[in-house]
Amino acid sequence: MSQSDYIKDIARYGLENDQAKLLDVLEQLIDHSRKTKKVNFALQLQSILKESLRAQKTGVLSSVGSELHKQRLEDRDLGEFILEKITSDYTFDNLVCSENVIDELSFFIEEHKSINLLREFELPVSNKVLFHGPSGCGKTLASYVLAGELHKLMYVVNLGAIVSSRLGETSKNLAKIFRRASAENCVIFIDEFDSLGKVRDYSQDHGEMKRIVNTILQLLDFLPQECIVIAATNQIEMIDEALIRRFDVNIKFELPTATQIRKLVDLTLRNGKFTFDNDKAVSAIIKKSIGISYYSIQKTLITAIKRSVFEASSSKKTVGMINTALWSALIDAEKKALLKPVSPRKKKA
Ligand SMILES: Nc1ncnc2c1ncn2[C@@H]1O[C@H](COP(=O)(O)OP(=O)(O)O)[C@@H](O)[C@H]1O
Ligand SMILES: [Mg+2]
Repeated sequence: MSQSDYIKDIARYGLENDQAKLLDVLEQLIDHSRKTKKVNFALQLQSILKESLRAQKTGVLSSVGSELHKQRLEDRDLGEFILEKITSDYTFDNLVCSENVIDELSFFIEEHKSINLLREFELPVSNKVLFHGPSGCGKTLASYVLAGELHKLMYVVNLGAIVSSRLGETSKNLAKIFRRASAENCVIFIDEFDSLGKVRDYSQDHGEMKRIVNTILQLLDFLPQECIVIAATNQIEMIDEALIRRFDVNIKFELPTATQIRKLVDLTLRNGKFTFDNDKAVSAIIKKSIGISYYSIQKTLITAIKRSVFEASSSKKTVGMINTALWSALIDAEKKALLKPVSPRKKKA
C-alpha cells in the first residue's frame, strides 16, 4: 500500500468512527513510514497516537472548566520546578564566544527559521541541544540568545530541584513539563542536567535512575520539531552516554581567551559612560585574567566601576573613569578565591 492508500483508509475509518480499524491502519502507516525512512513523520504520528490513547485512558470523566483554568491549575502544579517562563530579547550581540560556537548556534537557528523548507524535503529538524563547559561561560546566556533570536517563549527548568524534591515523581513531573512546553512550541531549558547522575546518591532503589533516564530518552524522542530542548551542564562526564547521543547538537563553552576578554570588556562598557584611567594596565589585567570565567571577570569589572563611581562622587571628581588598580586587585582576589581548595564532600557512612 502507498501512503495515500493509508490516508484514504484513515479518513474512512475516522469518519465512520471505527476506532479499532483506525488504530490498526495508523499503526500500519507508522510502520510503513519507518520502512520508507520517514522517521520523523513516523515519530510524530506515534506520539499523536500515544497521547490520544493516554488521554482516553484517563479521560473517563469529562472535564469541566475553561482551558485557561486547567492550565492555571497545572501551572501551580509545576510552579516549583519551572523557575522562569520568559520571553527573551537577547541576541548574538550579548554573547562573546568562539567562531565555532557562533556557527553552530547560527546554523541551529537557521534550521528553525527554515523549518517549513526542511519539512518540504522531509529532512529532520535538529531540536535538541546540549551545552556543556565550565560555570560562568555563557551556557544560560546562550539559551536566552537562542530563545531571543527565535522569538520563542522559554521555560527554565531546574533538574536538580525536580530530582531532589520528590524522587519517585521525577519522571511524572518531567513528562508534565515536556507536555506543557510541547503544546506551546517553546524552548525548554534544563539546567543542571548532570543532576541525573546524583540520583544514584539519593535513591535506595537502583532502578530509579534507569527509569528517569528512560523517561528522558522517550520525552526527547517524541518532542515535536518546533519545540526545542536545551540541556546545560558543568559536568558532562556525569551524564549517561545514551543520553548524550540523543542530542542533535553538542556545544562546548570554554573559558575566554585574551581577545574574548577584551570583547567582554567592550560589551560591558558599551553604553559609553565609562573609560579606563590606564589602558596599559587594562592589557595586563586581561592577561592575568586568562583562566577565569566570563562571569567572574565581568563581575569584578562591574564592582570596580561602581567603586570608582563612589570614589569620584565623594571627592567631587567627574564620574566616568574606571580605577584600573581597583579592578586589578579584585581580579587577584577572585583568582585567590578560585584557587582555594574546595572542601571534599563528606563520605557517607
Ligand atoms: N560568553 C559570554 N559572553 C558574554 N557574557 C557572558 C558570557 N558568559 C558569561 N557571561 C556573563 O556571566 C553571566 C553568567 O553566565 P551564564 O550564562 O549563567 O554562565 P553558565 O550558564 O555557563 O554558568 C551572564 O549573564 C553574562 O553576564
Ligand atoms: Mg547557567
